[in-house]
Amino acid sequence: MKNRKFVLARRPDGTPRPDDFRLETEELPTLGEGQLLVRNQFISVDPGMRAALDDVVSYTQPVPLGGVIPGATVGVVETSNNPKFKKGDFVAAGFGWQEYGLSDGRGIRIVPDGPMPSSTAIGVLGIPGLTAYFGLLSVGRLKEGDTVLVTSAAGAVGTAVAQIAALKGAKVVAVAGGAEKCQWLRDEIGVADVIDYRGVPDLAAAIAAMAPDGIDVLFDNVGNAMIDLTLPMMRQGGRIVVCGQVADYNIPASRKPGIVNTSAFISHRLTMSGFVAFDYAREFRTAWGEMTDWILEGKLKYREDIAEGFEKLPEAFIGLFGGKNFGRKLILVF
Ligand SMILES: NC(=O)c1ccc[n+]([C@@H]2O[C@H](COP(=O)([O-])OP(=O)(O)OC[C@H]3O[C@@H](n4cnc5c(N)ncnc54)[C@H](OP(=O)(O)O)[C@@H]3O)[C@@H](O)[C@H]2O)c1
Repeated sequence: MKNRKFVLARRPDGTPRPDDFRLETEELPTLGEGQLLVRNQFISVDPGMRAALDDVVSYTQPVPLGGVIPGATVGVVETSNNPKFKKGDFVAAGFGWQEYGLSDGRGIRIVPDGPMPSSTAIGVLGIPGLTAYFGLLSVGRLKEGDTVLVTSAAGAVGTAVAQIAALKGAKVVAVAGGAEKCQWLRDEIGVADVIDYRGVPDLAAAIAAMAPDGIDVLFDNVGNAMIDLTLPMMRQGGRIVVCGQVADYNIPASRKPGIVNTSAFISHRLTMSGFVAFDYAREFRTAWGEMTDWILEGKLKYREDIAEGFEKLPEAFIGLFGGKNFGRKLILVF
């Protein structure tokens, strides 16, 4: 049986290019004792994965040259020698950009058979949604009445942040790129205060106009320039949640924008905290329960942007850095 996989052909220089990735075909080994074989139906592309393509240790090890590109997956168990999994089970895993995954079952979970579509296990109920939930509530220590500024608000994480903040009684100011995404945030997601950062002449002035009393929580998905711009607008005791750096991932460390408005940390007793969603793995079950309820009650909406065809993976990934995705970007393999 053959498996197709995308491997790292060379380390990207700046924004990744299609030939940084190489499609390879291999023969799948015979299933060993305790192992299972999964056919991946959905594979994710994630902006944060860019960091693992450099030869730098981040919170994950760098992908070696020739290594499979990481990604979250949802698939169907084809064969199982593991008593915990049976043929036909849907499982969420991290097999990366390949058609099949072979595993001993560790790090894999069975996706419940309804009420949510299986794709949500790596979307709103996967790492993006959990990142929003714990980043906002635990890292950002959100309180009722806070003003929250969220960037990349039309993305999987950002959309969930905007809605969870509103559900918890916060005022939300959302920043996204382009009229279509901003309109959707207003009309479908119900955020009144939305800023198109690509369309305004002065982003700081636009934020100040929508949050005249300042910001309690900045949930930042974008990077240093955004944090620096927001610092003077933070309120006393404000929290900056450093979730992601999509504007900075492709810039070498020596050329990344710096943060200079640091005196605000002293004058306004600010805190800035980074985190990784897996830090909260022990609490995922609680979040799944609450978030599933919100979704079923229509209080937490999500958008998936699904491209069909395994070959589309590199293009979909590269598109993230140009704002081409609109919601959680997934590849439907079969
Ligand atoms: N800490 C964690 O555990 C954790 C876990 C998951 C994800 N994350 C991070 O969370 C963030 C959001 O993730 P996501 O999966 O929901 O992806 P996402 O927000 O959909 O990321 C892609 C979007 O980023 C925006 N973008 C791209 N280049 C930009 C630039 N130069 N300036 C401003 N915006 C830019 C684009 O939206 P526009 O069209 O609006 O510009 C694009 O559609 C990412 O930074 C990711 O790395 C962190």
